[in-house]
Amino acid sequence: MDKLLIRGGRRLNGTIEISGMKNAALPILFACALNTETCILHNVPEVSDVDTTLEILSGMGCIIQRLSPTTVAINGVGFKAGTSSEALVSSIRASSYLMGVELGRFGFTKIAFPGGCKFGVARPLDYHTRAFEIMGAEMETTGQGFRGEAPNGLHEGKIILDMASVGATVNIILAAALTPGTTIIGNAAREPHIVALANFLNMCGGRVLGAGTSEIRIDGVSKLHSCTYTVIPDMIEAGTYMCAVAGTGGRVTLTNVIPKHLESIISKLTEMGVSIEEGEDWVTVTSSGRLKGAAITTAVYPGFPTDMQPQFGVLLCVAQGMSTINEKIWDNRFAYLDEIIRMGITVTRSSNTAWFPGNQKLYGSSVAATDLRGGAAMVIAGLMAEGVTEISNPHFIDRGYDDLIGKLRMLGAAIDRREVFPESTPVSVNARS
Ligand code: EPZ
Repeated sequence: MDKLLIRGGRRLNGTIEISGMKNAALPILFACALNTETCILHNVPEVSDVDTTLEILSGMGCIIQRLSPTTVAINGVGFKAGTSSEALVSSIRASSYLMGVELGRFGFTKIAFPGGCKFGVARPLDYHTRAFEIMGAEMETTGQGFRGEAPNGLHEGKIILDMASVGATVNIILAAALTPGTTIIGNAAREPHIVALANFLNMCGGRVLGAGTSEIRIDGVSKLHSCTYTVIPDMIEAGTYMCAVAGTGGRVTLTNVIPKHLESIISKLTEMGVSIEEGEDWVTVTSSGRLKGAAITTAVYPGFPTDMQPQFGVLLCVAQGMSTINEKIWDNRFAYLDEIIRMGITVTRSSNTAWFPGNQKLYGSSVAATDLRGGAAMVIAGLMAEGVTEISNPHFIDRGYDDLIGKLRMLGAAIDRREVFPESTPVSVNARS
């Protein structure tokens, strides 16, 4: 059983490079299965969700070559619909994108129920299936998963989403890319990863217009061609390191970032007393470690991202004065608070709101990563805490953080990963051990 061990109390200083964005790389990798020519993708993050995606696609007939740790060549000519591995599909959420790809290319889809982080309730896919129905597919939910058929292929449609869902916007774009006519998405998600997917498809000869606004038009093309594309930097990874240095104190420069994508994070950290300088593709974060409380409400982009909520939650535990978080995207994304309580913190919560009295201190303890971002929050808490923190289930963190230990050690953190046997109680951790 692997655990992360962190000895807290060290300030973070130095420079690290941010990796490619997981949530942009995943839809783009699936989009390669629409293409019968080879695409070369640079800056693909080395995270386990990417590994799982590549395994799914290769099992379905795509030819995949890792040209370097972060460069992947993919050819989708041999991709076959309905052949995905149930075990792999059920281990990540982005596997739902297979539905759009299979229906768009073959008029047929069959996949197991996608997995991914659980936020208290099942994460529904009703917007996705309803959109495919509007585009002419007959969709069915069976005990095993989703099945859909459009014997004559999909047709164009106008889909107005109830909520600006990232996944549904991605899936409709994928389904429509090769579908004749013009498909329109109203109330589309505007996240940078949607723009990245549109840019990638357009570089392959697709016609996706309006990405980044709330109305996207997709003019279907008959074929996509090869291209070389570089995945955009991960704003959530960057935001996570910004929170880490805000909490520990210190001065850290992050390179390979797009500061525009970080606006809501920068604005909130500035309000909390952190100083941030920015250049074209870098930010420098300087913090004394003394933070002011804040009120945070999550929202769709360009609002405050739900994927940064747990990392800020840890900061609000120690910040001066009362703080609140109002989680508007997921029904229950506060499982990490049960772990934070083990570190000596008092916090009150309902399903969507948490109240932090502030002015508290974190003490090293044994905690668990409850999900990907909840796990990142525990790492930040461990870095800030007095004593040693032991984090179980680090595999959740592996889903979305490329070389977390290496990057934190470069900044001076004392963090290690060990196989821990139940009877042992490890307490020794040094930065370079
Ligand atoms: C994406 O999930 C991200 N995952 C999530 O990041 C992120 O939290 C989320 O977008 C919001 O930004 C990936 O990109 C792989 P949604 P997704 O569809 O697409 C409701 C991380 O930590 N909804 O935008 O699944 C849903 O319940 C992960 O990297 C429906 O009701 O999110 C939620 O309340 C975690 N029916 C809201 O919409 C649907 O069919 C937004 O979900 C679809 C969604």
